[in-house]
Amino acid sequence: STEGTKPHFLGTAVIGSLQFGYNTGVINAPQKIIEGFLNDTWNNRYSEPIPATSLTTLWSISVAIFSVGGIFGSFSTGLYIKRVWRNSMLIANVLAFIAAGFMGFSKLAVSWEMLIIGRFIVGLYSGLSTGFVPMYVGEIAPTSLRGALGTLHQLGIVIGILMAQVFGMESIMGNSTMWPFLLGLTFIPAVLQCILLPFCPESPRFLLINCNEELKAREVLEKLRGTEEVGADMQEMKEEARQMMREKKVTILELFRSPLYRQPIFIAIMLQLSQQLSGINAVFYYSTRIFEKAGVSQPVYATIGAGVVNTAFTVVSLFIVERAGRRSLHLTGLLGMAFSAVLMTVAMALLDQLPWMSYVSIVAIFSFVAFFEIGPGPIPWFIVAELFSQGPRPSAFAVAGFSNWSANFIVGMTFQYVEQLCGPYVFIIFTVLLLGFFVFTYFMVPETKGRSFDEIAAGFRHDAGEAGEKYAPDEMNSLGGADSQL
Ligand code: GLC
Repeated sequence: STEGTKPHFLGTAVIGSLQFGYNTGVINAPQKIIEGFLNDTWNNRYSEPIPATSLTTLWSISVAIFSVGGIFGSFSTGLYIKRVWRNSMLIANVLAFIAAGFMGFSKLAVSWEMLIIGRFIVGLYSGLSTGFVPMYVGEIAPTSLRGALGTLHQLGIVIGILMAQVFGMESIMGNSTMWPFLLGLTFIPAVLQCILLPFCPESPRFLLINCNEELKAREVLEKLRGTEEVGADMQEMKEEARQMMREKKVTILELFRSPLYRQPIFIAIMLQLSQQLSGINAVFYYSTRIFEKAGVSQPVYATIGAGVVNTAFTVVSLFIVERAGRRSLHLTGLLGMAFSAVLMTVAMALLDQLPWMSYVSIVAIFSFVAFFEIGPGPIPWFIVAELFSQGPRPSAFAVAGFSNWSANFIVGMTFQYVEQLCGPYVFIIFTVLLLGFFVFTYFMVPETKGRSFDEIAAGFRHDAGEAGEKYAPDEMNSLGGADSQL
């Protein structure tokens, strides 16, 4: 069937992704300007210019505290077990308003503490988004479009990044008077989302499976698809519901204990790590600095170029993910990134002898970003919804989000230091990691394209069943899991 999903519902959800992207990209272009503010504030307090090491530390904290917020935010999505998606998201917007206030007034208050607190709080909001949005979209999407619609989350993110980069140009808001507005602007999407969310329906899967409200679920589904022919969808959801009756809600600890979930949760975690430890946010947090070091004369434009390439290739992925599948795109992306990272290293290492290497570094970063968006960008976010059925899904999102944001933090916090240590060879570290993740994906990650949630879960049950028989028959039986009662 060719049933779709009403775009405005998705659009409203994806505003959450946009916010995440905006705040990821917003500190990139104006790094020097805001460092100027840190310096002024320091001067104001201690009557001396800020020492270089303190500046690196303060800046790295301002950047990376965002991901600390993300860690807490995404992990707490696991607490919304009986979640009412729409209301949770609505309430989360309070965080965006508070954060906008802290960041927007930090200059006026001569306080970098406010900047840092604001970045933390908007990180909390973004962490919640990275749980809520893919979960909601995954649940309302028809099976045949789950990958394409799942990629919308990433599309929201990259558009947010691009907007932040453009607004961050010196002539727009990336200057010493306007930068507080640049950061405070995050309140506008929050207003928009608060207005639109009340018009969004609850997830029909949630209504049917968690609340046992079949009529309501059907009603919402008809509204979502814009047709009354929702029989097949209802059938598929009921199938999952039947499975769920035996499965119950699964806590985070059970995810790791149960042989049924151990394999998919391991895969989910590794995919999140592959996304972040690819080094992508070294680019999106620090590319202006990277380009500057690589001898590029207009580094902010190169940064915006990276944002454009980033957006373009997310759209490419959106159109091919249902045909090419998740696995092959992820593998292609990882390998391409590894290659680009090598190219980047060569360009940086030869810069002193060959000044035109600065152009090669632009090509390298652009292709690094392009390959990222082919697979490692969008896929890890939505594949978590695919790897788990309704019972373990919220807990799985909490764990996946936690892993993703922790790795995000490590890269954001340490990149500048590691770069000081390794100089032009810093991207070699990412190359090694990327190749490791390629091997992992090749051997461990199954294809989920076109399979219903129930079929995917059955695949893992089958694997766990075999492992269970071989290694831990008692544990399997005491689980009360689906297999033992079938
Ligand atoms: C992914 C990552 C995010 C990154 C973005 C870049 O969404 O999760 O951290 O900044 O891609 O496009």
